[in-house]
Amino acid sequence: MMPIAERVIMISGASRGIGLAVAKRLLNEGARLSLGVRDTAAARDSLRTCNTTGVRFFPYSATDLKSAENWVAGTVKTFGRLDGLVNNAGVSQPPVALTDDDETGLDEMWAVNVKGPLRLTRLALPHLASSGTGRVVNIASLSGKRVKNVNMGYAMTKFALIALTHATRREGWAQGIRATAICPSFVRTDMTSAVDRVEPADMIQPADLAELVLTALTLPNNAVVAEILVNYTLEDMF
Ligand SMILES: NC(=O)c1ccc[n+]([C@@H]2O[C@H](COP(=O)([O-])OP(=O)(O)OC[C@H]3O[C@@H](n4cnc5c(N)ncnc54)[C@H](OP(=O)(O)O)[C@@H]3O)[C@@H](O)[C@H]2O)c1
Repeated sequence: MMPIAERVIMISGASRGIGLAVAKRLLNEGARLSLGVRDTAAARDSLRTCNTTGVRFFPYSATDLKSAENWVAGTVKTFGRLDGLVNNAGVSQPPVALTDDDETGLDEMWAVNVKGPLRLTRLALPHLASSGTGRVVNIASLSGKRVKNVNMGYAMTKFALIALTHATRREGWAQGIRATAICPSFVRTDMTSAVDRVEPADMIQPADLAELVLTALTLPNNAVVAEILVNYTLEDMF
């Protein structure tokens, strides 16, 4: 198995939150990173304390197919290979309820949380196949395992992202591609900054989630984890 330091990993939405924590963790291992972000200057600034010699920044907007094409092509052109894709960029707001009769919010959430990762996976697949140990890690959610609040739209997108993960496993298995859906409950990021019923310190910390992403990326082809469910508190089933 190729050491992580020799691998090239793409991460979407790496300028803050979970994506940034994953980027920092992988940089600590010496991995070469291709970061797809909406604001490359902001991403550079977020990583200013790290050694970014092996990092390239590409503009990526989940709703723009061309940016996905350019990012994947630019990564392979720059590094000459691709070994991993972390689909992290996502949104949870504005909430989409079952009773909403305006579907605009659902369409927007679907575009970012589902179609974005789908396109990146589709484009990356041939290059991950060439790697022989290609990895896809999708940052899904426990909202992709159960419906616990009014934001049905978010849950629908995360259920779909888990379906994409299983489809990726199936499609890429023979070429050594392995895919894992990471399904956390509340993580301490901007996304949960408005949550007042849980103390931020009691939530899952981004660095701990980054450790799980590293594990999913580095397990061998014959030790495979399809889903990783992560809690900060006791739930009935998970
Ligand atoms: N925080 C939680 O409790 C939690 C729990 C379960 C799952 N998750 C999932 O974890 C992932 C990361 O979330 P987070 O907590 O780190 O949230 P966050 O701090 O709000 O960061 C979201 C990231 O997604 C990027 N992004 C949003 N819309 C985008 C778009 N249209 N195109 C490209 N990038 C876009 C953002 O880029 P900008 O910086 O440019 O805005 C940012 O980097 C998401 O998929 C989220 O659903 C989070």
